[in-house]
Amino acid sequence: MTENLSHLIDLNDFSPEQWDSILNLAHEIMAAPLVYAGACRGKIMGTLFYEPSTRTQMSFQTAMLRLGGGIIGFDNPSSSSVAKGENLKDTTKIVSGYSDILVMRHPLEGAAKAAALSAECPVINAGDGGHLHPTQTLTDLLTLKEEKGRLKDLTVGFCGDLKNGRTVHSLLKALSCYKGNHFILISTEELKVPTYIKDYISASGKTYEEYRTLEEAIPKLDVLYMTRIQRERFATPEEYEAQKDVYCLDAKKMKLASKELIVLHPLPRVDEIAVEVDDDPRALYFKQANYGMYVRMALILSVLDYKLTAKPMLKGEEIKDVCCTNPKCITNTERYLPHSFKRSGDVLECEYCDERILLQ
Ligand code: NCD
Repeated sequence: MTENLSHLIDLNDFSPEQWDSILNLAHEIMAAPLVYAGACRGKIMGTLFYEPSTRTQMSFQTAMLRLGGGIIGFDNPSSSSVAKGENLKDTTKIVSGYSDILVMRHPLEGAAKAAALSAECPVINAGDGGHLHPTQTLTDLLTLKEEKGRLKDLTVGFCGDLKNGRTVHSLLKALSCYKGNHFILISTEELKVPTYIKDYISASGKTYEEYRTLEEAIPKLDVLYMTRIQRERFATPEEYEAQKDVYCLDAKKMKLASKELIVLHPLPRVDEIAVEVDDDPRALYFKQANYGMYVRMALILSVLDYKLTAKPMLKGEEIKDVCCTNPKCITNTERYLPHSFKRSGDVLECEYCDERILLQ
């Protein structure tokens, strides 16, 4: 197990000051990109994408190419030895041995942390199932900082699939670290934010309200973060069908909002924002995707320059005979992984996916 590498699995493993230094570097890169054109010459980034991606994968690749480095990897595991049954540990060990930095997206929760346990270079979590997406959060923080001028004292609305939306979970955890933020969570009963995220918000002294409709929430917001209903995370097509068209931000609803509102979306959009909203100056989601490339340039540089201090990956207790009860947790597929938990009273929290298990 390699412990002393600066993997980025959960943004909250690092401090807001460290995030800020990445955002400041991104700002500098945006102002003078050519200064950084050769900063990663001779370095290789490996990208292992076990799940579809457009923006995350291509912005990481463009970021590395713009820094003068090279890229290897796959965007479809069926074209790699994964199709022959290779486990995550072996694929990670080999590709990280060829690379200076490894970017991984995977459909199972906790997969990036599991990969980091056997990696030979730093691993960046580019999305682990419906769990977390820290580099989208860096993108969102940069957008907020550049466009709103602050990360605190914001009322931020999150709308859509708040249960399965990993971008929502990571951003809520990050914004909970700044003073004066308040969250308005807009979803159906079935797609509410997981309890562990709500507990995180409360434990950090921040407040949230839950609403059912966009109309009642939108007049109160500084920021509206729209999200897609995550079809691939539903157990049955019927459950998805029941949720898919509930929310649509259109020009009529935008009339209810403040002139200062900004609308963000990690993209891809399906039907939750009408195309007519794209022409509204408050719609910033395409600009947000562009910020993603610069923040990933800053992140690659920070990781390769050892600017992020290493954190141990597993800090809890290994309990061999307890299995995580989340069927989407990586430990239920990659059986060799140590079962590691944080204990608080009668509750064990899985260190890979944050699932809570009540001890009998
Ligand atoms: C998001 C993701 O993959 O979680 N997309 C992205 O990375 N920009 C959002 C989504 O797929 O809905």
